[in-house]
Order: sequence, then structure tokens, then C-alpha cells
Amino acid sequence: MKRPDDLKPKINVNDIKETSVAQKNAELLRETIRYHNYRYYIKNDPIISDDEYDKLYATLIDLEEKFPQLKSENSPTQKVGGEILDEFEEKSHPTPMLSLESVFKKEKVIDFFHSFEKESHIDSFEIACEPKYDGAAVEIIYKNGVLNSAVTRGDGTKGEIITENIKTIPELPLKLIGYEDKNFTDQIVVRGEVVMFKNDFNMLNDRRMKNGEDMFANPRNAAAGSLKQLDSSITANRPLHIFIYEFTNAGETEIGKHTDALKKLKSLGLPINDSEVRTVDDSDDMINYHSELANRRKTIKYEIDGTVFKLNSLDQRKDIGSTSSHPKWAIAYKFEPKRTTTKLKDIDIQVGRTGKITPVAILEKVELGGVEISRASLHNFRIIRDKDIRVGDYVVIKRSGGVIPQIVKPIKDRRKKTNKVSIPGKCPACQSELMVSDDLKQIYCTNIKCKAQLVQSLVHFASKEAMDINGLGKETSEVLINEEIIENMSDIYNLKKNDLLELDRFDHKRATNLLDEIKNSKNNKFSNFLYGLGIPMVGKHLSQVLSKKFKDINSIMQSDIKTLSKINDIGPTVAESITNFFQNDKNKHEISTIIDKGMDLENKLYSNTNGKLQRLTFVFTGELSNWNRDEAKSIVEKKGARATSSVSSETDYLVVGSNPGSKLDEAQKLPVKTISEDEFVQMIKG
Ligand code: IVH
Repeated sequence: MKRPDDLKPKINVNDIKETSVAQKNAELLRETIRYHNYRYYIKNDPIISDDEYDKLYATLIDLEEKFPQLKSENSPTQKVGGEILDEFEEKSHPTPMLSLESVFKKEKVIDFFHSFEKESHIDSFEIACEPKYDGAAVEIIYKNGVLNSAVTRGDGTKGEIITENIKTIPELPLKLIGYEDKNFTDQIVVRGEVVMFKNDFNMLNDRRMKNGEDMFANPRNAAAGSLKQLDSSITANRPLHIFIYEFTNAGETEIGKHTDALKKLKSLGLPINDSEVRTVDDSDDMINYHSELANRRKTIKYEIDGTVFKLNSLDQRKDIGSTSSHPKWAIAYKFEPKRTTTKLKDIDIQVGRTGKITPVAILEKVELGGVEISRASLHNFRIIRDKDIRVGDYVVIKRSGGVIPQIVKPIKDRRKKTNKVSIPGKCPACQSELMVSDDLKQIYCTNIKCKAQLVQSLVHFASKEAMDINGLGKETSEVLINEEIIENMSDIYNLKKNDLLELDRFDHKRATNLLDEIKNSKNNKFSNFLYGLGIPMVGKHLSQVLSKKFKDINSIMQSDIKTLSKINDIGPTVAESITNFFQNDKNKHEISTIIDKGMDLENKLYSNTNGKLQRLTFVFTGELSNWNRDEAKSIVEKKGARATSSVSSETDYLVVGSNPGSKLDEAQKLPVKTISEDEFVQMIKG
């Protein structure tokens, strides 16, 4: 935009008598004010003080009041006010305002990227990455450089005309800057998101609370609500902002790329958030953009709910096209929504494999982060009591980092018919008295013959990451236990085909398959067996740690708390849990029965006789010239060692290939011995 010769034209309104002089001065002031608006809002680099600006603005208002015939809709003074409407009129969008397809998983983003590689007519392409603003979408039309209309998204085909309200947004020009000189398309159709900054939102809500007015739930609602005011002076008092993100009819111009379209719009004085826009040509960079944005999310002034990825070439967009609801050239990669609400239908009482009783919320199905949720954890009965959660309540649920969803709180204001939750006195499975701690946090069924506990233990033992017995899921385990075909976990190794054939769910083939699976499980890895035992506090990782330290099950069973506590990652509490488990007669009996049945509980890591690498742990970094990572891993495993992905004090050797990563620094810090690929080759030859 051209800088006016005089940044502060001195005009004395009292001295002006003739309309033609007034007209000339009004135009001069308007152009100057537009330029300062541009410097302030768009370039973020004002060159006059707020006081100086206010004086210019006040002079223009005086002049327009003295000569009302000069008033112009495009004057910067027209930002506030306008008549109060009875209702909003509607207007069709020149092209439908489609929505974006939302995804929550990075694999879907990668698929989106590869979808263009498959297109025969696309050789190379760029993706523009932008924040997904969480506000209210609008379409704004400039005709011959002048703001003509602003319309809400509405049903996508037509929306409500909110022109007067949109004009109140300070950084949005009513007249495009330097448009006349640009020999450009008559009509410019842009789309953008109206947002309220987080701090403004908080201040607005504080004010509303003090005045006893309803508060807005979030900045999006506040922005949308403010745009829908029939009296635009109300909107003018709401601190709104806008980011323009699309130039819908750029295809009618010479512009070939979305990012160039944004540059052009910026040069016309439109608010473009270009510092946040990045173009990439690699799916890794798309994911990196998203992660960086997610990391900064809290510190960003406005709310965002993900990333929008868009094909940058406007011609390629045209080739790719749209479905009836969304363009195929763009996608929204959303952050995991943190919360949603649903109805608590019931509370299920679960008996864990240790006898621990846990309440589980049964919910009306709801989607959260692209996943359908119908159950949530309630932890314990103390929480139910403290939060006063009742069956029939609407509840807020949250998911953080992919873990099981949790109930945050009941929405008491929505409460109608609800039932208080009572503390169970008897085990729902075996009806025996429960042991309830005073604080209600620990409730246990202490009946060692409780079938529900056995079902859970067996399901865990047979699970994929433990003994991997296909076909021994919850239902089959329940049938086998309820029909008293098995009474202990180890009984599965006594199962006969006829036992199974007596049951409805087994025919010949299914019975044979299950027996084969059970037989094969005897050859499982030692660490899998340890995990399958279900020792309290020992998960997959610690099972591996134990399997690396001990040569067989007997040596673990015989070790004491002191020995166990010396192992990295095992503290005294876990050590105590392990020793308690192995001191328990029932557990001892189970293990010896399983060994009698031919389970190989020698630690294969150690029983491997193939040489020098026994017991060693390798980590690889950088590129190896002889093998890829998987091949190298399988070589060390064949030699009785193991390969892990990160360096720790458990690592014996870091094998360093070319272009090593940060693992090398970590190894040097710890320290862990590093060897070259050649040295590694010598080592495995042995
Ligand atoms: S481009 C054809 N870019 O997301 C789609 N939309 O479901 C063109 N949104 O309500 C939209 N930030 O208002 C685009 N950087 C961005 C966006 C964005 C937020 C909103 C948009 C619409 C929704 C799409």
C-alpha cells in the first residue's frame, strides 16, 4: 500500500465551508486512516501513536457530521453502528461453503498425502499447513475493492447477512488498499474465521458475571454470538478478530497457488495470519507442523482445534475436486478433543484378577476424538461419593493421551431423575462379603475361589501380549470356568478334546484349534509368561526387565526384596509385590503345575548357546551398511542377545552407523560403550 505523503494531514473542520473542499479533505483523511489501520492491524507496525490516530479519526467524524451528505459506507468511521435489524436476511454463497473432513490419526494424514501421489496427472505437489481456527466461519465479498457483504456459513448454501457486524472488526478494511491500481478481478470472495482472543474472552465473561449476565461457554460461542447481534453497536463492543484463510475465486485471476493468493490478499490489506502458514512437500513435515502447533497451543492468543492441510496448487485442487460435503484437496487434522458430555446409564461392578472391585461407568454412546465411547473408568467408590455422581446424570468425560476415558464430573444443573450409587457389600460374582477400606478406595473380594477373578486371570494369561492363546477370550473363559471344566489357570494344560466338545460353542475344528494354541503357548517367551502371571505392578516392561536379569522362573521365585530392588526400574514396593506373589501357595502351585505340563520356563535368552552375545543388550543408531534395523535386531536375537530402541543403563553396546542420532550423545553421557559397525561384525562372527 502506498504511504500517504502526509501521515497526519492538518485539517481544521471549522474553517471548511465548501462541500467540494470538505469532500477532498474527507477522502484524504479516509485514505490516511486506512493506511494507519493497515500499518497497525495488518503489518503490526504502526508509525503514529494511538493519540495521533484518535485525533485523525475524530477530525473525520467532525467533518462527516458537519457535511452529512459526504457520509460514505466505506468510510473507516462506519465501523460502528448502523440501524438495528428486526431479523437477518439470508444470502446464497457464490459457491457452497463446504466443511472439512476431520481426522484424528496421523496415519490418515499420511494417507491424505499419498492420495495425491497416486494421481497420474500430479507429478509434484505442495501442501499448505495452517492452524484450524476455532471460531465462526464467514464469507466476505468485496466488490470493486469495497466491502459489500458478509454472510455466515449457515447451511453451507446460504447464510445470514451480518455485514454491519463484520464491519466492526477493527483490522478488516471496508475498502481494499490500492485496489484501483491493481487491475484486478471485480469481485473478491474471501472466507475466514471470526475469533475472540482468549484473554478478551475471559475479560468479557468476567464482566458478564459481574453484571449477572449469562456467560459464554467458550471463545467460539462468544464470537458466534457476537456476530449474531441485530444491533451492531453490541457487536462493536465485543473484541472480535478475523483471520482470512481462503480466496475462493482466486482461480479467476492469474494466481496459481493458495499461498500466493494469501500474499495478494495481504497486500490488499486483508488480515492474513501468514506467519503461521507453512508449505511442505513431505508427510513427515505435515506431522511435525501439527506437533509443533500442538505444543504451542496453550501459548497462542486464540483457540485452535487442529491443523488444516491444503493442496497449494489451485489447478491441482480443481482436478482433485470435492465430495458433496468436503473438498478432497484439504483435510483437518484435529487435536484430540479433551472433553465431551454424555449420559451415565449404569454402573458396572468389575472384579479384577486380584479380587479388586472397580466401578465402571456405562455410558450412552458418544464420540470423543473420533472414537466411540460407551464405558469410562470411575477408579473407585470414594470418587463416586465425593463427586456425587449418580446413575442417570449427564456427565463430563475426558480422554487424555489415548488412555481410557474418565468421568470428570456430573452436570448437576441437568439433573432430573437420578439414582444414588450404593457401595456394594457383596461380590457381584461369588456373593461373598467384600472387604471395604474406610476411605472406600479399596474394595476387595477375598474369596480365592471367586470365579470372576479366575476369568480375569485367565483372560490376561491368554492375551496376545502374554501367552497369546487365540480363542481363549472372555466368553470362552467364562464358559470353561462357570461349567467347572477348569478350576485353576493351569488346568487349561489338562484340557481334553472331549471336555470341549461337551460345550455348545465347540465343534471339532474349534476344539482342535484351541488345544493346538494352548500347546503352542508352552513355547512362548519367558517374558510373556512372566507378564501372563499377572503379578500386581508388573506390566510388560518390568516382565522384560525381570526376564533379562534371571535365568529361569526358580531364580526369580527365590530372590528377596533386597535383590529385586537393586534392579533398575524396580523399587521396594514392586519388589515386595513380586515376592508376595511368589510366596503365595496358590501361585506357587499354579507355576509348578504349569512346569509339570511341559512349559519351558528356562529363559530362552540365556539358554541360547550360540555364543558370546548372551545376555547382552544392543542399541543401534545411524545407518548400517550391512543390514537394516530389523535385520540387525534379528541377528543379535539369534545370538542370544537383544536389541532395544533406546539407550539406558541396561544397554551394553551402542552400535554406531553413519549419521548417528541423539542416542550417541545419550550413550556418552551415561556412559554406555559404543562400537562401530565393523567392531559389531567382528563380535558376531565369534
Ligand atoms: S479452509 C472447503 N482453513 O473449519 C473448506 N477452514 O469444517 C475451506 N477453519 O468452519 C475451509 N480454520 O471455518 C479453512 N485455516 C483454515 C481454517 C478453516 C478453521 C474452519 C472453517 C470451517 C471448518 C471446516
